[in-house]
Amino acid sequence: TFSRSLWDAITEMDEHNRPIHTFQVCHVMEPNQNNWLRSNWIFRQAAQKVYVELRFTLRDCNSIPWVSGTCKETFNLFYYETDESHGVKFKPSQYTKIDTIAADESFTQMDLGDRILKLNTEVREVGPISRKGLYLAFQDIGACIALVSVRVYYKKCPFTLRNLASFPDTVPRVDSSSLVEVRGACVEHAEERDTPKLYCGADGDWLVPLGKCVCSVGYEEMDGACFACRPGFYKAFTGNIKCSKCPPHSFSYGEGAAVCHCEKAFYRAERDPPTMACTRPPSPPRNVVFNLNDTCLQLEWSPPSDMGGRRDLTYNVLCKRCGPEPDQCQLCGEELRFVPRPQGLTNTTVTVMDFSAHANYTFEIESLNGVSKMINYPRPVAAITVSTDQGGPFMVGMLKKDWAAQNSIALSWLEPEQISLLVVDYEVKYYEKEHEELSYSSTRTKAPSVIITGLKPSTCYVFSLRTRTSAGHSAYSPKYEYETTDDTSDMASDQGQVLVIVTAAVGGFTLLIILTLFFLITGRCQWYIKSKMSSDDKRRTNYQNGHALPYPGVKTYVDPDTYEDPTQAVHEFAKEIDPTRIRIERVIGAGEFGEVCSGRLRTLGKREIAVAIKTLKGGYVERQRRDFLREASIMGQFDDPNIIRLEGVVTRSKEDHGNFTSLTGLTDLVVLCAVISGRPVMIVVEYMENGSLDSFLRKHDGHFTVIQLVGMLRGIASGVRYLSDMGYVHRDLAARNILVNSNLVCKVSDFGLSRVLEDDPEAAYTTTGGKIPIRWTAPEAISYRKFSSASDAWSYGIVMWEVMSYGERPYWEMSNQDVILSIEEGYRLPAPMGCPVVLHQLMLHCWQKERSQRPKFTDVVSFLDKLIRNPSSLLALVEDIQGLAESPGEVVDYHMFISIGDWLDSIKMSQYKSSFVAAGFSTLDSVAQMSIEDVRRIGVVLIGHQRRIVSSIQTLRLQLLHENGFHV
Ligand code: ADE
Repeated sequence: TFSRSLWDAITEMDEHNRPIHTFQVCHVMEPNQNNWLRSNWIFRQAAQKVYVELRFTLRDCNSIPWVSGTCKETFNLFYYETDESHGVKFKPSQYTKIDTIAADESFTQMDLGDRILKLNTEVREVGPISRKGLYLAFQDIGACIALVSVRVYYKKCPFTLRNLASFPDTVPRVDSSSLVEVRGACVEHAEERDTPKLYCGADGDWLVPLGKCVCSVGYEEMDGACFACRPGFYKAFTGNIKCSKCPPHSFSYGEGAAVCHCEKAFYRAERDPPTMACTRPPSPPRNVVFNLNDTCLQLEWSPPSDMGGRRDLTYNVLCKRCGPEPDQCQLCGEELRFVPRPQGLTNTTVTVMDFSAHANYTFEIESLNGVSKMINYPRPVAAITVSTDQGGPFMVGMLKKDWAAQNSIALSWLEPEQISLLVVDYEVKYYEKEHEELSYSSTRTKAPSVIITGLKPSTCYVFSLRTRTSAGHSAYSPKYEYETTDDTSDMASDQGQVLVIVTAAVGGFTLLIILTLFFLITGRCQWYIKSKMSSDDKRRTNYQNGHALPYPGVKTYVDPDTYEDPTQAVHEFAKEIDPTRIRIERVIGAGEFGEVCSGRLRTLGKREIAVAIKTLKGGYVERQRRDFLREASIMGQFDDPNIIRLEGVVTRSKEDHGNFTSLTGLTDLVVLCAVISGRPVMIVVEYMENGSLDSFLRKHDGHFTVIQLVGMLRGIASGVRYLSDMGYVHRDLAARNILVNSNLVCKVSDFGLSRVLEDDPEAAYTTTGGKIPIRWTAPEAISYRKFSSASDAWSYGIVMWEVMSYGERPYWEMSNQDVILSIEEGYRLPAPMGCPVVLHQLMLHCWQKERSQRPKFTDVVSFLDKLIRNPSSLLALVEDIQGLAESPGEVVDYHMFISIGDWLDSIKMSQYKSSFVAAGFSTLDSVAQMSIEDVRRIGVVLIGHQRRIVSSIQTLRLQLLHENGFHV
């Protein structure tokens, strides 16, 4: 409701005979009208900026006779911020004007007769607002107006659930270029993995999800919430994994189990993970046997039949020495030695030593696993009794040393007497005395003598011997110790060694001479070949990554740093220009080294061409001169329509040129630009009328057709394809480093490797100390400086995004740190408004984490060529797909839209239906003819909405053209 002056509250019927309540004023006959209508006090709530949508009709003054001096066709909209309602008090001087409102459509007497309602809709933004509320006021100055509705609203990013975190209603910043960072709260039974964040954009859209919450133990994720695991299921870890069925021999009765409990007689060891089945102790070992000789008793057994469901099986051996009666047993003392040990055995065998010769031993062997100690009843064992009462009818006589040398010892012995069995052979066992018996060697012989070789000089060895007969082995003989001789005592072998050394030395020397000669000859040749390598050869050598890779038949880029004298590189690749041929006209920018000017260059054919001149400011040091000229040495190697062309350089001083006088006759600009400090240095390149691509797009926001934008992208891709074919990695592809000429041809510029990054205001220092333009750079290049054509492909994807969003800043106002984090988490820039699906898909392809999966530039160029040849593939916009199809990739056909209403619904612009209809745009054909001015005129005031509508109109136009047989 409104308090009023000469305004009247009138209820009318619309064309469908429905009542409409309006406020009207129509004092068009009298001059100096000043009629105010004021709203009630409007509570601001959380808004910082409000939108006022007015719907009204306005009478055409021409259609009223005799009012030419007094009748007006506009009225004024005002507002006043206050913290409280002022009741009926009203002071116009307190009010601030928002805008003069004019009608796009005014109605005439005839329309009234035909009962046609020409409704106008206008939206205005008011803000920032800081008081608790506001009044709106309408000042009539003599028009014939019916105010049908006033809608006051503000935009917010609505409450949402993302990644198991809830984000509250959030009001965007008044300043539409910055985003509000909002922290999410985890939903019930979820916990933070990385701080969940979203950014609220100016249009009330949520952007860039970062971090997430995950379901707690015992809960699993389903449809954006965490639900308890069902009985019989469990979830032991936080994370977005599903509840699992309880492992074998375990169960869970209730809901939300973090672990399952073991069935009776089954256990979980302390370190068993909850995912593991419950297990039980093993059964005892089986088939215990022994093998006895006079020094060793070897016990052996088979593993248990039931391992209890585990693999951590070990064995313990317990020894008891028993008297004649079985019940007279006691634990064996320390004197017995077990090899390797009596407990915790992992093999099914143990050797027992130092036992008594005439005794009965009982060995109990038990198997154990990780849960054996969880039972408190006696564990079953396997037992065996061994009597050591054995002897040797087959014992041999004494083991005698016949002779010893440095590495060998000869032994012999007397054959056993009283032997009825056939001796198969003898086994001599020996080991170094120092190393005990744990590792020994043995040798077999049929004769009662042996020469043992391979021994160490001056070392004491222990020998013993046993006999093998058809009935088996005898016990070992007692041990005998013999020593080998030392190095010097064996002259014969020493001489032998000397002979070998002399022969080797002579041979080696000969070999050395041959090899030296060989290397001298080939080495000299290589050196000779290197020093003879011409610049052409150098050019054909790819120095990427410091390796010279010959690349036959293809011209490749030569790093100017491989020249000892950088000036030589400049003169090899760039023409020297006599400065008298240059006329500097204007300063057009500033580079790291000095001003950038535009001007004219007189060619040798006496033609004048437009050029840009980069200058090196005075007082430079040699290093700066070298860095400055490096760009020319690089650019001069390229020759491609999409790479900025180098015309030449000025490096020589006036003395060198002989005649430099005409430069002194130039204007102040020359002093500024060319720095006549005796040695002016300049790089002269072709002039690009439209300057850098980013500012060009921002200046012409929404003005190009999709095909024009794709044409630009194609040019850039073709330039970078040329660079990558040349083996050059740009490292700083970004719209700011692309120049645009008057024909909209885009050319790649800004060369110079590391210097490029020094120069780039976007480049930031990384933790590894490099300077990198984070938002444009591939992850592997940020983390470990792995720059390649594949990292250029990533940057190219960002350039695509910049182009399709008309120069929007990638990742908006997010911090570099957040950009890196979000990329790591898999977030990728969404499609810009009005972006064809296929182009966003290509961007996503360029932003693959795995660099080998990114497209090659040659594929990008042919893909874009196909799109240009077949523009209908550009029809599907990402918004259409999101609005209409569940799964991305389904292509929307505009034939689906039978009415303007459907079309506007599909691009989520339904609020403008009446504006289109009121303005007479009632068919798709008529909409396809609309310009951006038309869109503004019908009342679409928000830039974002204008852009969305215009780009959809472009697509619509294309489709209609295509339908009518139009082919690009
Ligand atoms: N700014 C930098 N280089 C340029 C060029 N070649 N043409 C126009 N503007 C530029």
